[in-house]
Amino acid sequence: MRSLLFVPGDSEKKFAKAMDCGADALILDLEDSVAPAAKAAARGLVRREIEAARKIKTRPLIYVRVNPLDSGLIEADLDALVPVQPDGIMLPKSRHGQDIMHLSTKLAVREAESDVPDGVVAILPIATETARALFDLGSYAGSSRRLSGLSWGAEDLSADVGAHSNRLTDGSYTDPYRLARSLALFAAAAAEVAPIDTVFINFRDKEGLLAECEAALRDGFTGKLAIHPDQVKPINAAFTPSPQAIARARAIVQAFAENPHLGVIGVNGEMVDRPHVRRAERLLAAGKLAGAT
Ligand code: COA
Ligand code: MG
Repeated sequence: MRSLLFVPGDSEKKFAKAMDCGADALILDLEDSVAPAAKAAARGLVRREIEAARKIKTRPLIYVRVNPLDSGLIEADLDALVPVQPDGIMLPKSRHGQDIMHLSTKLAVREAESDVPDGVVAILPIATETARALFDLGSYAGSSRRLSGLSWGAEDLSADVGAHSNRLTDGSYTDPYRLARSLALFAAAAAEVAPIDTVFINFRDKEGLLAECEAALRDGFTGKLAIHPDQVKPINAAFTPSPQAIARARAIVQAFAENPHLGVIGVNGEMVDRPHVRRAERLLAAGKLAGAT
């Protein structure tokens, strides 16, 4: 999943537009972008949208962002949605791996009750929305086979901390949010799931989005959340390995395949050893997923 586009769960019009904007995944939102009074109607709408989407052969993955575990709303969210088998659930305000186990149990019960195959609904947490959550990021590793990725967020975190802003005047994140981003990246790597970069909310600022995509790719993120259809194409392009990068990775993998007895080799004037092979293999896998190889 390179691009994951948020769509407010109460907007039929935006859903229609989102379906064919090229996003790898849509996240139909029942949390922050839906007002309390509109939640019940949004559940019904999202349910119908998933039912319709599942009949389409080539479509984006469909995740639903439910309300947090302690909201008093999540039971009704899951009751309405699991029976129509969304591809995944995004869990906001996730605190630790135990929350994933807890949600997984709730999903398993509903899968069993509604003839949905056991374990098919994935979980993607937003893992840095409270200060407390930052101290348990290591606990996602091994929490559930449903875990399909791990994302981070700076907006709710800054509200939790009481920060006046989370960015400097040049647009870059202040230190506390750079730390949260890094920890989320490490947590995803430790759990061996996809690290997904957070949203870029200035949706008219193309350059700012590209700069964030480049920094995310450089650091190891494999995809990015989007809030506007215009952000999807740039995100997909940024997270699709270039032909040059693919050729370089192939050369590294091939050099080691041809010299299995060597630990370190020179490839095109660069020293490469085991970590480089692993990185090259991951790049080729990402390229394959993106249809670029
Ligand atoms: N998904 C699908 N369609 C979207 C969309 C989205 N996330 N964001 C905008 N659009 C559509 C608009 O409906 C509009 O459609 P139209 O041309 O048929 O009228 C078109 O794209 C252009 O939208 P634009 O006028 O540029 O933006 P806007 O002012 O209508 O919407 C937001 C701005 C921020 C309200 C909107 O992008 C949005 O709802 N984003 C998602 C918010 C969200 O889910 N937040 C929770 C996670 S942080
Ligand atoms: Mg939020």
